[in-house]
Amino acid sequence: MFFPAGPKRTETLTALWKISKVILNTLDFNHVVQNVVDSLLFELNYLKRGYRIIVLTLIDEKSWTLRRISLSQTEEAQKAQAASAVPFHQIEIPLTAVDNLLIKVINERKAGVTSYWPDLFKPVLTVEQALANQSAAGVKTSLIYPVITREKVVGALIFSLIKDIKDVTEEEQDLLGGFTDLVGLAVQNSSLYSSLQATTIQLKEANERLKVMDKLKDDFVSIASHELRTPMTAIRSYAWMALHRSGTPLSQTLEKYITRILISTERLINLVNDMLNVSRIESGKVEINPESVDLKLLVKDIVDEVYFSKSEEKRVEFVVAEKPVPKAFADPEKLRQVFLNLVGNSLKFTPAGGRITFDFFSDGHTVDISVIDTGVGISKDDAGKLFNKFSRLDSSYTAAATSGGTGLGLYISKNLVELMHGQIKVYSEGLGKGATFTVTLPVASAEILEKADQYRVKAQGEAKGLEPVAI
Ligand SMILES: Nc1ncnc2c1ncn2[C@@H]1O[C@H](COP(=O)(O)OP(=O)(O)OP(=O)(O)O)[C@@H](O)[C@H]1O
Ligand SMILES: [Mg+2]
Repeated sequence: MFFPAGPKRTETLTALWKISKVILNTLDFNHVVQNVVDSLLFELNYLKRGYRIIVLTLIDEKSWTLRRISLSQTEEAQKAQAASAVPFHQIEIPLTAVDNLLIKVINERKAGVTSYWPDLFKPVLTVEQALANQSAAGVKTSLIYPVITREKVVGALIFSLIKDIKDVTEEEQDLLGGFTDLVGLAVQNSSLYSSLQATTIQLKEANERLKVMDKLKDDFVSIASHELRTPMTAIRSYAWMALHRSGTPLSQTLEKYITRILISTERLINLVNDMLNVSRIESGKVEINPESVDLKLLVKDIVDEVYFSKSEEKRVEFVVAEKPVPKAFADPEKLRQVFLNLVGNSLKFTPAGGRITFDFFSDGHTVDISVIDTGVGISKDDAGKLFNKFSRLDSSYTAAATSGGTGLGLYISKNLVELMHGQIKVYSEGLGKGATFTVTLPVASAEILEKADQYRVKAQGEAKGLEPVAI
């Protein structure tokens, strides 16, 4: 933009500065576009210079038209509107109408001038209709400037005057140019702001919908799983009794079939329990009641339980390190769930003849309990994935020739341990080299026991009336 030097230039800049404050004072799109068409006439009193109507038009990329957006609030504008055969906002010029002066200004990015309104209204209004509007407004000259934001033409401004073009001074033209640049900026800011606002509202709504759906999902999983557990437990009991307590000798085939029913049902029960646990964790319905826990006793109980149910057939040796261990500060039930899963995994992935060792370490503040096995191990690449939901490594299952497992156990364990202010980590030298899972927990010091209440985790939301489930 060329500005004349000297006092005229200062005047133009002062006027622009004054007007910029009016246009840029709000980000609301509707306000901005109205300020744009009124400020020049009323703030700078361009009415005195013969300016009567200012119209802002903007390109609508959806309908591929140039739409009239705002119109200054002057008497002449009202007269033109009253005379118009088509209401102001419905005058939409197709961008393909290249003989319309507005479209020409937009395409050539160069200001234009006319004293013949049909140039501005074709093909929407007939020549007679456009001329009727012009005579109602008493306009002699219209100047058109392209509105540009970020190098892109977004519309055009029409300045209509009751004087001849030869009476428009150079200073006025400079001001109109500078003013149009300002309008570009204001339109860009306000439409960015409006779209940001619209996006924020949409995001908020989407978020609300997601929350509702998430709750529905949680409720569905809780209810479906809970309903499934009762019949499945019955199937398991009857299958077990048919195998062990029927009093009738079974044929080999029948025994094989019932054994399969038992195994499959157990797998299903585990899956449902896992899903219930995940749903409780994710909907904040887990309660943690920490207290002082004797880790050696806990480990002994778990070994007894697992040994009794599974290890005989697997012939895996259990070793518990003989060393003094401080008591841990944890929820005993939740800790039991964690270790049942860790030991269950070690058993699953350690072939017969292997060993599972429990080791302990403490620095006085925290205590580590490690479950060390001599099983199939974990590759370095896979070690990071284990604690994700549904992370079943095919390599472990293939190497251990075992089946079953959902890949939820470690995800649940990690969440439970973290709710107890602890950590769980995995170490493995690689495939075939065994695995070590270490759980670190706070030591149950007198200090921490005194503040036990602060470490309690209460279930959020209403309780579902479901009893806790074991993994
Ligand atoms: N001791 C281990 N040795 C080798 N791989 C292991 C060991 N523990 C876990 N993994 C690997 O980590 C995966 C995830 O374990 P996680 O306990 O989460 O699932 P899972 O035992 O397969 O199924 P789930 O516990 O839900 O019944 C396992 O599928 C297995 O690939
Ligand atoms: Mg597991």
